[in-house]
Amino acid sequence: RLEKIWIAVSLVFIVGLVASIVYGVAGMGVGTVGDTGQQLDPNALEETRFADPGGHWASDDHYVVTVVARQFLFQPGSQEPVMVPANTTVTLYVTSPDVVHGFDVVGTHLNAMVIPGQVTKLTTEFDEPKSYGIVCHEYCGAGHQSMAGQLVVV
Ligand code: CUA
Repeated sequence: RLEKIWIAVSLVFIVGLVASIVYGVAGMGVGTVGDTGQQLDPNALEETRFADPGGHWASDDHYVVTVVARQFLFQPGSQEPVMVPANTTVTLYVTSPDVVHGFDVVGTHLNAMVIPGQVTKLTTEFDEPKSYGIVCHEYCGAGHQSMAGQLVVV
């Protein structure tokens, strides 16, 4: 009887362990602080919040930036930097109209995959004004190596 209890406890433990591994791997795929819950049509971004990508204040203490990652640049990011305020909650929404890209703000924990048809959400707060590089870390075609940008905290 005691053995049955121990077997049951062990089973629960193993199921929990497997679940945590599966969840951990799934979580890693979309970055350490991201989620890709929202679905959208990658061919119809002009009908979404990505029609005019860039930053705006969502409230007094929350700054939101939309970024389109495409072959082979970040909009904004590559031609002009992503500008965000320091000491403020910043949420980045990133999507792709073409293929899978990466969005890695070098030297920070902001690191996620960008998947066509999905929205990658990253939330953070920067302590001080500083400039960071942005790189695509998923192979996305001939121009992958040059797909980079800049994020400037002001
Ligand atoms: Cu985009 Cu590699």
